[in-house]
Amino acid sequence: MQDKFSKIGFILAVAGSAVGLGNAWKFPYLVGQNGGSAFVLLYLFLTFFIGLTIFFGEVAIGKLSESDPVNAFKKLAITNKNGWKFAGFTMLGAIILVSFYTVVIGWIFKYAFMVLTNLPADIETSAAIFTDFVSKDVSSQILFFTITNIICFYIVSKGIKSGIERVNVWLMPSLLVLVIAMLAYSVTMDGFIQSAKFLLVPDFTKITFDSVLTALGLAFFTLSLGVGVIIVYSANLPNNTNLVSSSIIIVIINVIMGILIGLVIFTFVFEFGAEPSQGVGLVFISLPTLFAKLGAFGHIFAFALFTALIFAGITSAISMLEPFTYYLIREFGFTRKKALVSIAAFVYIAGILCIFSNIEGVKENLVFFGKSLFDCLDYLVSNIIMPIGGITVSVFVGFVIKKEALRELYGPYMSKFMFDLWYFMIRYIAPIAIAVISVNAILS
Ligand code: PFF
Repeated sequence: MQDKFSKIGFILAVAGSAVGLGNAWKFPYLVGQNGGSAFVLLYLFLTFFIGLTIFFGEVAIGKLSESDPVNAFKKLAITNKNGWKFAGFTMLGAIILVSFYTVVIGWIFKYAFMVLTNLPADIETSAAIFTDFVSKDVSSQILFFTITNIICFYIVSKGIKSGIERVNVWLMPSLLVLVIAMLAYSVTMDGFIQSAKFLLVPDFTKITFDSVLTALGLAFFTLSLGVGVIIVYSANLPNNTNLVSSSIIIVIINVIMGILIGLVIFTFVFEFGAEPSQGVGLVFISLPTLFAKLGAFGHIFAFALFTALIFAGITSAISMLEPFTYYLIREFGFTRKKALVSIAAFVYIAGILCIFSNIEGVKENLVFFGKSLFDCLDYLVSNIIMPIGGITVSVFVGFVIKKEALRELYGPYMSKFMFDLWYFMIRYIAPIAIAVISVNAILS
């Protein structure tokens, strides 16, 4: 295999996959809805204890097998190889995910252009613009969805090093520069102190069982776990990489970016007296009206924020395409282009159906189990496929792969105590914790 990541390329590519709309869009509104800092603390705790445990598990499967997810499980299973290979098919979750994730990146594209000339002055107007766009404007949504997918598929068609790595090496630092520039401006505003307090000074009375479940689901989603992405990226890791420090750096970048973007967003929310707990509309409805209060500079700031979201989104979307592409190449001898064309056909059809599932007059035909197709696919991936992926990884690593092989892999980078702790967590704590979230999410 020549087309491997460099060490820094691996860190940036996995961080690029992790830092995405989950951190920049879901994280702020979930923090707002779940009472602020205590939720942030919970999220951090669960990210480091459960998320990182599964993350190490996926890195081990990828690195030990150097295969696509299906063949990785097959290769490493000692018995029942043909049964275990099905665990790798959770990678289909990533293909379903990319279908609606790129619809949302398309919305962000549209907003990046719109805010250059038009920032709605009040919430009613802003809500009407967003609702009209999502529920009536088929052509713009398809246009921006198509642009997003052309970009993502083009990048992945260039391969791991010249495509995925190169784009991450540019976009991740650019994202950081944009976020730091926005933060530097936010610090000068009065709302910043309130924002920092809201995000960083914990109030434990706000923690409920529900917020624990939400935080674990978010930790899982933002670390791109359970759908084969970390397995495939780790299969392309250069030798002699310090697996432990690289993984910890990635997880730290992931949480820091979430917090920094949250600090910027809540500075505006508090500065202009908006409601922090308003939910999904925070970025698309509320923020544009807050930027409008800054006058001409507001347009530039809004453009910077939506551009940052596009960068974060694209580096995640390309990671979702890689597991299945890699599988088609290795299992069926497809060329990378042929594999991507096959995947694109599915993503395009599913994405357009998702767009139609919000469109007035058509959406009634695209309701499944009482949810729009869009919400249904989101539910399927986040609440069913990802938890199943997480549980299979933990059971596989904890009970199927030889402990010696894991010790050999991680021994040079972990103390004995840390290895034993991780092994205990992945065998018992992580699968039970994930089973609790998924059962609860399904029942509620
Ligand atoms: N981690 C990404 C985010 O926070 O937006 C989402 C994601 C990417 C989930 C890749 C799963 C995945 F395989």
